[in-house]
Amino acid sequence: MAKVKSKWVCLECGYESAGYLGKCPECGSWGSFTEEAQFSAKGVNAAQNEFINREKPECLNNIQLGEEIRVSTNISEFDRILGGGLVLGSLVLVAGDPGIGKSTILLQTGGELCRTGKRVLYISAEESSSQIKLRADRLGINSDNLYIYPQTCMESIKAQIEELAPDVVIADSIQAVYSQAVPSSAGTVSQIRECCNLLMHIAKTKNITVLVIGHVTKEGSIAGPKILEHMVDTVIYFEGDKYKSYRMLRSMKNRFGNTSEVGIFEMHSDGLREVKNPNELFLNERSQDAIPGSAIVVSNEGTRPLLVEIQALVGTTPYPAPRRVCNGVDTSRVHQILAVLEKRIGLNLSKQDVYVNVMGGIDVTEPAADLGIALAIATCARDVVVDSQTVIIGEIGLSGEIHPVNNIEKRLNEAISSGFKKAIIPYSNNVPSGVKIEVIKVQRLFDAISACVCPASAGAEG
Ligand SMILES: Nc1ncnc2c1ncn2[C@@H]1O[C@H](COP(=O)(O)OP(=O)(O)OP(=O)(O)O)[C@@H](O)[C@H]1O
Ligand SMILES: [Mg+2]
Repeated sequence: MAKVKSKWVCLECGYESAGYLGKCPECGSWGSFTEEAQFSAKGVNAAQNEFINREKPECLNNIQLGEEIRVSTNISEFDRILGGGLVLGSLVLVAGDPGIGKSTILLQTGGELCRTGKRVLYISAEESSSQIKLRADRLGINSDNLYIYPQTCMESIKAQIEELAPDVVIADSIQAVYSQAVPSSAGTVSQIRECCNLLMHIAKTKNITVLVIGHVTKEGSIAGPKILEHMVDTVIYFEGDKYKSYRMLRSMKNRFGNTSEVGIFEMHSDGLREVKNPNELFLNERSQDAIPGSAIVVSNEGTRPLLVEIQALVGTTPYPAPRRVCNGVDTSRVHQILAVLEKRIGLNLSKQDVYVNVMGGIDVTEPAADLGIALAIATCARDVVVDSQTVIIGEIGLSGEIHPVNNIEKRLNEAISSGFKKAIIPYSNNVPSGVKIEVIKVQRLFDAISACVCPASAGAEG
């Protein structure tokens, strides 16, 4: 193979340069350049002939599936976000803030898999064997099938995987391992890419399920190249309020199941326990009396509808530019809702600070929560209330119209099971006859405000 010259490529955006650059002029990422050799056309042909694979394409109908492609982790919330269990030979990335519980959930998963007779290798690149043993004792994990290997070198890890032949490998974490093939230190973009490549190769060629822990940056995205998320089969984020005991696992990408699926856990000294009825958790701190600035929305997280309380506070600003502070909802979405409230309802918020908070520390990303956010803001601004037994469902368009949402039946059934009596829903959503809840269909934001504000307070609406 005749190597003619080399070029430097940004692993984040693919920008090419003749020499090494510390910062990418295209995407602004640091330390993302890696050297790639270019070969002459003659050299490429020679290489292709040398490694040519004689395997033939197979007809789809002739492909035989193995008996067991999915393995249950025995943790039903974890199975749910995986789309029904771990797929053999898949690569799963679990990322989250420091101390959120990544090692805990994967050690628990490893322990459960061992109980079903699987052999698990836990590669600890961050902690010693005794630290893992201490955690395992605290979590009540005790198995002859669970192997702990404190190691950071990928080549040694690969050798041990080949020798032990485990069913599942847990790598804690991808930022702490390094490959000797790459001259940079562990955690750099090129090291992460190389180590992930090696793990992916192990997973696919040996049909071993690999669970990888990943760190996140200060901004909350996975540390390392974007390509890491493309390479793996499933990306799961560990979210939650560090100051509260519950945690959420959310699938952001899944080649074998639904995305945005949420699994809810509570952190205890003996590990993460599944929360079977999350609505109780999110609504139990709610005041039973209706208060201005509060609305209950039914947000569809993956395949599960969740009832969450949106709270808003509106007050005269002491600053030249009013503040908009949002926790758990997208700030630009709130800006859009505020613009619609000003233009279509005539609510003047230009001199008002607006704070919007999703109770329970969950992130609500669905547009179906728009109407709930708008009503929380509007009721606080006008000092009126939404009936505490009412749930609000609907997406708001720029002209104040309410757009239909998906899975309305599931959402309404969830509201019924949590004891709600009334639902405000989009006009064009059809409600099946068996659903036993008072439904008010609204076409415009103005109709929703008139429909759900309590009559006793409605006079204050003005
Ligand atoms: N004895 C204990 N009782 C209750 N909770 C505990 C106890 N020990 C640890 N924890 C919980 O476990 C969390 C740490 O879990 P874990 O080490 O799995 O996190 P991690 O995400 O792997 O962290 P890192 O990013 O540092 O590796 C702590 O933040 C705490 O909430
Ligand atoms: Mg850890």
